[in-house]
Amino acid sequence: MKRIPLIAGNWKMYKTTTEAIEFASAIKRNLYQINPELLEIVICPAFTALSDVSEVICDSNIKLGAQDVHWEREGAFTGEVSILMLKDLNCKYVIVGHSERRTYFKETNEIINKKLKVVLKEGLSPILCVGENLEERENNMTFKVLDDHIYNGLKDISSLELVNLVIAYEPVWAIGTGKTATPQIAQEAQGYIRNLLNNLYGESISQQIRILYGGSVKPDNIRELIKQPDIDGALVGGASLILDSFVNIVKYSYDEVKNICMDY
Ligand code: PGA
Repeated sequence: MKRIPLIAGNWKMYKTTTEAIEFASAIKRNLYQINPELLEIVICPAFTALSDVSEVICDSNIKLGAQDVHWEREGAFTGEVSILMLKDLNCKYVIVGHSERRTYFKETNEIINKKLKVVLKEGLSPILCVGENLEERENNMTFKVLDDHIYNGLKDISSLELVNLVIAYEPVWAIGTGKTATPQIAQEAQGYIRNLLNNLYGESISQQIRILYGGSVKPDNIRELIKQPDIDGALVGGASLILDSFVNIVKYSYDEVKNICMDY
């Protein structure tokens, strides 16, 4: 069975719609040769730019993702964006439970669980972010945090609903800090996550779920990361905002995946 590696750019609260259109067009021009059956490319602009970027990439090998979603399909929730609105714009992916949302917007596992359910129900792919902060790592709590994020995040979600799930292991101490986890540290955590998925859903499902690494991914570290057996791509923040960096991260990953046999 094959897991198609995925490189996703999380643009966070950067780029106006005008800038986003220009940037998405440049990415499209530079990456048209990537075969989406070997490597998926996803870009996640701010909500305000989704509609225009969707038009720019509609005839390309690049897919659209959103950075968040509300857990209800519609309702009186001023300022929020629903899954139906995202689906209508041809979004295929939604980042759920990013550490910045857990920290600054107090998103709990319970909220994240509700968001995952609505995204899966509507047939989109959630990218569930999990990972420990520095204090937790230094206190040897990494595995405990991963247990908490995975078991509670995926609570009451059956294996039948899971098909589209993607997980991103993002150690908080590596996000935006320039400190990447070594490939060994990332592999250890991601192997652990796959093992948790195995306990929850069995071998065949756990082998199908893609687990990305996120945290200061750059062109000069992506090759070693993506070579690891349980690293199926990357969720890229800062480096996804710079054309050369993002293009090279995708190209270097593509070189590696063409070499690696991902059949199990
Ligand atoms: P970074 O961000 O690549 O800037 O560390 C990653 C993320 O927040 O997803």
